[in-house]
Amino acid sequence: ITITMRNQDGHARTLHGEAGLSLMEVAVRNGIDGIEASCGGACSCATCMVYVDESWRARLVPRSEFEEDMLELAFEADETSRLACQIRLGPEHDGLVVTVPGEQT
Ligand code: FES
Repeated sequence: ITITMRNQDGHARTLHGEAGLSLMEVAVRNGIDGIEASCGGACSCATCMVYVDESWRARLVPRSEFEEDMLELAFEADETSRLACQIRLGPEHDGLVVTVPGEQT
C-alpha cells in the first residue's frame, strides 16, 4: 500500500505500508516528523492528526464519535482532519494522500 505524506513545506514522501497497520504506525516507522502519536494509537492523544487530501475524504471510513471528540482537542484540526491511528490500512487505501501538520499538541 503506497501512501504519500506531505509536510507543510510541500515536500512529499512516499511510504509503503502493510495492510493491517494503521496510518500512524506506518508514519512512525518511517520517522515522519510531525506525527508524535504519544498515546501509541489508543485514540487518546490527538497528536497523530493528518489532513486528508480532498479526493480521499469520502473514501475513508467515517470518524467514530470517539475520534470526533479527540479531534476537538487536536491543534488546528479542521473538517479534513483525521487521527492517523484510527485509519487501518487495507488495499483500498493504496494511493492515499495526506498532509502532516507543522505542529501537534
Ligand atoms: Fe494518540 Fe492517535 S496516536 S490519538
